[in-house]
Amino acid sequence: MDSYSYKITGGKPLKGHINISGSKNAVLGILAASMMIDGTCTLENVPDISDVHVMVKICESIGAKIETELTPEGSVTLHIDPRGIDTYEATGPSVSKIRASYYLLGALLGRGGKASLRMPGGCDFGQRPIDLHLKAFRQMGAKGADFRNINGGIISLHADPLRGASIFLDIVSVGATINIMLAASKAQGKTTIVNAAKEPHIVDVANFLNSMGAKIKGAGTDTIKITGVDKLPGNFTYSIIPDQIEAGTYMIAAAVTNGDVTIHNIIPTHMDPLSSKMREMGYSIDEGDDYLRVYRDPEEPVWGTNVKTAPYPGFPTDLQPQTVVLLCLSEGQSKMDEDVWENRYQYIPELQRMGANISIFDHIALINGIDHFSSAQVKATDLRAGAALVCAALAADGTSYIDEARRIDRGYEKIVDKLRSLGADIEIAGSLNLYEDKEA
Ligand code: UD1
Repeated sequence: MDSYSYKITGGKPLKGHINISGSKNAVLGILAASMMIDGTCTLENVPDISDVHVMVKICESIGAKIETELTPEGSVTLHIDPRGIDTYEATGPSVSKIRASYYLLGALLGRGGKASLRMPGGCDFGQRPIDLHLKAFRQMGAKGADFRNINGGIISLHADPLRGASIFLDIVSVGATINIMLAASKAQGKTTIVNAAKEPHIVDVANFLNSMGAKIKGAGTDTIKITGVDKLPGNFTYSIIPDQIEAGTYMIAAAVTNGDVTIHNIIPTHMDPLSSKMREMGYSIDEGDDYLRVYRDPEEPVWGTNVKTAPYPGFPTDLQPQTVVLLCLSEGQSKMDEDVWENRYQYIPELQRMGANISIFDHIALINGIDHFSSAQVKATDLRAGAALVCAALAADGTSYIDEARRIDRGYEKIVDKLRSLGADIEIAGSLNLYEDKEA
């Protein structure tokens, strides 16, 4: 079923326990990194989501062998053997379906000094340039694609040899930091990345590469130092970190339904930007070693607040839409300042159709608290926008339809089953596709 919707009847407080899956953004970087190794590897705690299926297909298209095993607990383990890779070209149509395919630029450059890639796709929230990636590769001795002139949508690079370099990122970029780490792991000499991104999945990609034999120091700080190695032996098992954004989405779903949910298999410190805002608003958050419990005292008000997105450890842009839903159901006026992406409010007209009172001034959204959302038929304009609409529908009076639900399935493993286990009334419904599919 290509076009389907989520049918959600709201108003039921979510209650109970759920487990968070492996991180989407970490596993996509790690899958690319696994294409560089000289042996085999096994990845555990892989989320069963469509972006992973696409990335696996792309890796197979260049010659890697990947076996998928479903564990008795329902999670996915991947057995990866990249030794049969026989091309440096990843130019098939799947490449432009996801953003993270661009990590194959760094991985293939590192592996064999050559990479040819179709322009990546992904969520549309403004221009998503890759100039920083290409400038860095050029500093490392790569020739070919110029970010001002990418021929026919194919980026081709070659380096003979690929050399370490001192790279300053003038914008903190998650993607550029990972791509440089990949290429630098097998470049000649030392690479330093200054003003690197510090997101949890950057640390996870670095830990994975180090366990394969790479020499990366400082991941998680703003200076990363990489000494290139000749071989990455592999032959080990690695477990993906929990998904910070999935966890945050369930925290918000619990909060907006006045529920009481304990979210397991997480790293609570990754949730600090959201937890501290939610506490400030009046929610209770109990913290254990690998879980958080979210609930509130129904007699106490929930206050609005101001939030600004920023690179980690700032407030994650990938939780911005869900947080706007949370702010809608709080008292007074709140402000959201989206400071990472120029056009990440495309979902707001959909939310307004559910009764939200929001005005947008450039990258700032002013949110006036409302008493409740009303049900509506709305469209998931992108992955996290879709997650936000699910949260709003769970809190709304009546039955809502979230169309283009496949966008949500790009990043949320078994969301229908997980929400149902917490008492939500949600099901998959076929729906007339009223919207042209513009997403690659
Ligand atoms: C990654 C995440 C995405 C998340 C984002 C910010 C993946 C696959 N995607 O995206 O879900 O929303 O981090 O946490 O992990 N920039 C440039 N030039 C570049 C690269 C980026 O100007 O070459 C700018 C972008 O326009 C943006 C900012 O840097 O304003 C951050 O982008 P970046 O961190 O690179 O985001 P992605 O890696 O694309």
